[in-house]
Amino acid sequence: MAEQKATNITWHEGDVTTDERQKLVGQKGATLWMTGLSGSGKSTVACALEQALLHMGLNSYRLDGDNVRHGLNKNLGFSAEDRAENIRRIGEVAKLFADSCCLAITSFISPYAADRDGARKLHEDAGLPFIEIYVKCPLEVAEQRDPKGLYKKARAGEIKGFTGIDDPYEEPTNAELVIDTSTTSVEDAVAQTIAYLKDNGLINQ
Ligand code: ADX
Repeated sequence: MAEQKATNITWHEGDVTTDERQKLVGQKGATLWMTGLSGSGKSTVACALEQALLHMGLNSYRLDGDNVRHGLNKNLGFSAEDRAENIRRIGEVAKLFADSCCLAITSFISPYAADRDGARKLHEDAGLPFIEIYVKCPLEVAEQRDPKGLYKKARAGEIKGFTGIDDPYEEPTNAELVIDTSTTSVEDAVAQTIAYLKDNGLINQ
């Protein structure tokens, strides 16, 4: 976790309570945290889920690993330290989206359990729902899909420290949802996630 560097700073509370905000915005916020290997289908499911929620009249916004690494996190690589900082920042950003009553969907490999737990704790401490979704997929299947040709490069030694090849992926043990994309369609993955949100009182429709 990053240290507090600035001194002489004071938290400034807003004038709108969470309850009031939820009523005014017309929905609750939450973070749906997708984790899984590259090529597991995180971004595909996240896109379809974001679209489905928006069509239900719910505000949802996707934060995607590759995309965020083009901007906010463009100064980070793939060392364990940089991945931790990547996840710490996106945990903070997702928390802000959730706090604004948005359904934030993150799709990052987030290979380390401690980093994911850090993002969870941030949300829990703020009283915001954090739903970890393990987008499960056997390495062989992800490698066969290889949508960006990166597994091929990693096997050829052209990329060092590639998750699943020569860098670790720690499987979640306490995920709220596990979706195996080698046996589940994108539509079913979306339906399962929406059912979870309904069953847990996060959406009404
Ligand atoms: S994370 O480990 O820090 O959570 P993140 O999800 O942001 O990773 O980025 C992963 C994406 O970066 C992959 O989908 C892939 O397109 C690309 N990538 C490039 N190099 C690597 C690498 N060494 N390991 C994993 N993904 C990589």
